[in-house]
Order: sequence, then structure tokens, then C-alpha cells
Amino acid sequence: MNAQVSATIDIDTNRRLLNRYRYVAHEAMHLFAGWMPRAARFELKCEIGRTIWENSLHVNALYLRLREIQSPAFQKPSDQAMVVLMDEMLHAPDEYALALAYYRVVTPSLIEALENHETATFPNSDLPSVYAIKHMLLDLRAQRERIEPILQQAEGAGKITAAARQWEEYIRGLLAAAGGVSGLKPRTKAPAAPAVRVPFKAPREAARDERFTNLGADFVAMPPEEEHARHTEEEFERYSTEILAAETVAVVMYQVEGMPWEFEFDSARHLYDEVRHALMGYEWMRQHGMDPFQSPQYLQVFRWRCQFPPVMQYCMLTMGNEVHAFPYRHRRVEAHQKQGDQLSEQFVRYDIADETQHVRFGKRWLPDLIKHIGETRPLEKYIEDALVVWETQYRSGKLPVNVE
Ligand SMILES: [Fe+2]
Ligand SMILES: [Fe+2]
Repeated sequence: MNAQVSATIDIDTNRRLLNRYRYVAHEAMHLFAGWMPRAARFELKCEIGRTIWENSLHVNALYLRLREIQSPAFQKPSDQAMVVLMDEMLHAPDEYALALAYYRVVTPSLIEALENHETATFPNSDLPSVYAIKHMLLDLRAQRERIEPILQQAEGAGKITAAARQWEEYIRGLLAAAGGVSGLKPRTKAPAAPAVRVPFKAPREAARDERFTNLGADFVAMPPEEEHARHTEEEFERYSTEILAAETVAVVMYQVEGMPWEFEFDSARHLYDEVRHALMGYEWMRQHGMDPFQSPQYLQVFRWRCQFPPVMQYCMLTMGNEVHAFPYRHRRVEAHQKQGDQLSEQFVRYDIADETQHVRFGKRWLPDLIKHIGETRPLEKYIEDALVVWETQYRSGKLPVNVE
């Protein structure tokens, strides 16, 4: 951008633009939360989790700036073409169609808009926006670099269908009808939805790619902690399956709407922490000559949780699984220390740090969540009732699924 254009973004244009970037990143969090359990390809699922978290950081940075220049900070764009674009993204025919549309169509347009904004706004007067934009650009470019090899691998393996290509073109057409992410480009007529469009339904099953072969094995008792080596292998194999916790947080994020922004922000971090815990398991297993794709996936856990309302799922996860893990985790830190196994010790200690936050999130948000859903039981009673279900069905390993 040359100096001539440097005053083209006035303050009113500025807040409209920042709100559009925020809207794109924020809507993408929501649609990716809906899709995350459904994405089968493991690497893509993990990247989707990371995008949800990184987008939450971008939305938050824009939120902090927007609330200084408009009230309320978050506003639905008045540009209907932009709203249609982000609404339609959800109805992709498959996970690669979604990934192509977002990472190859929407993200490049967002990057272009931010690059332009960075130099076209008043450099000193609008410095706080420039600061946020520079950081977003760093993440978005890195996101594209990580996602490209995954898409190219899928292309090479013939996994990108004609339907996915059609979808990518459709989204490109909707983006052009919105004038790009900035809305400042010449607009074209919006295309009609192609026949490959599939109305989105929230998943009740978690998907895994073909490398996973053991999908629904029952939980078996772990080797006793005294058998240190065998127990530790199982300990980290269980970490590798924590993607299930990420998938449940995704369900909560997708289904619970209208909570304060900070809840979404905390949940995005919670979700990606669980992806990281799974990846920690993968890393450990690979270093020890084990194949994480052979781990049982316990998909019945996701199916079982999905029978319950999202707030109850969140309550059982934070007040059941997460609260109760600490005594065991602390024993593991001690056991690994005793063995001089620094890697395992460090992994578990980082896990404890994250899990402490997850319990804090649960305690912070459950009072608001039960109010939000119009629950009449007092909080203590609600948690107690949820934990009875958790104890008798999950902890006992029975996991009954009511077939509808
Ligand atoms: Fe975890
Ligand atoms: Fe957790």
C-alpha cells in the first residue's frame, strides 16, 4: 500500500472491518466445533482443534479493540452476503470440502484484508488494531503452512472428491458476492447452492480414519501401578485417546449458544488442551516404539456422552473425569521421578497444570450454564445428580446407550 491510500480506513470503516474479521474468525470457531468430532483424518482433526483455539485468541484480541470503538463489541454484520457465506460453510459435503473452503478460500481472503488494513489505517492513531492484525497474520500464515501438506497428502491419495471441489467453488462464489472478507472488492452475483450441499447435523458419533482399527474395545483394567513399565505404557496410551475429551468440549461449544464470550474463550483452550494431551500420548508412544493408531479408541464414550444435554456432558467431564484424576496423576509424577523418567514426569506435570485449569473452568461456568438452560435444581444438586450418572454408568464401565 502506498502513502496515498494510508488514510482510506477512517474510524467508522475501521470498526466495520474489524467486526468482519472478528465475525469470520468467530463463526469459524463455531462451525469447526460442530465438525471437529466428524473429521476423521487425525491430523486434520488436530489442526481443526488448533484453529478453534488460535481463532479464539484472534477474536479476543479484536474483542478487546472493538469494545473501545463500538458497543456492543460483537455485532452481526449488516452485510447479508457475509452472513450467508459463514452460514453456508457449515453445510460442506465432507471434511475436505470444509478444509478447502476455509483454508484455501476464506483464510487467504482474510490474510489479504489484514495485510491491506495493516498499512491502510492510521499507523499511530490505530496502532492497537495494527498490533492485533500483525499477530493474527503470523498465526494465519503458519496455519496455512501446516494445513497445506495435509491437503496435498489427501489430494495425492485421491481423497478430494469432485463434490469437495464443487463446494470449494461455491464458497469462492459466496465470498466474491460478499466482496471478499473486507467487503471492499467488486461484488459478483451469489451462486446457487450446489446439489452436493449436505445440511449439517450435529454428530453423535466420533469419526476416525482408516488407520485406527480398534474403535470400540471395552475398557480393561490397567496393569497395577506396581508393574511400573507396563502401567506406564498403558498410562500414555490412555493419553492418546484424550481426543475424546476434546470432542466432547467441541459438542458443548457447538451446542451451547448465547453464553458470554469468555466461556467460549475458555472452552476453546480446554478443547485444544485435550488435543495436546492426545498428541502427548502419540509422542510418548512413538518414542517408545509403540503405534498410537493401534490404541483402542473407545468411541462408545463419545456416543454415551452424546445422549445427555451438553451442559450435563460438560458437568460430567469437569466435575467427574477431571476433578477425580488428581490423586492418580500425583502418584504418577512421584513414580516417574523415582524411576528417573524425566519425559514421563514432565508430561504428567504439564497435564496436571492444564487439568487444574479445566476444573477451574468447570467451577467458573457451571453456575452460569445451569441458569442459561433454565435448570431449577440448585447447583450442588445438579452436580450431585450428574455425578451419580457418571459414577454408575461411566466409572463402572457400563456405558448404556439408549437407542432412539
Ligand atoms: Fe486431558
Ligand atoms: Fe481436561
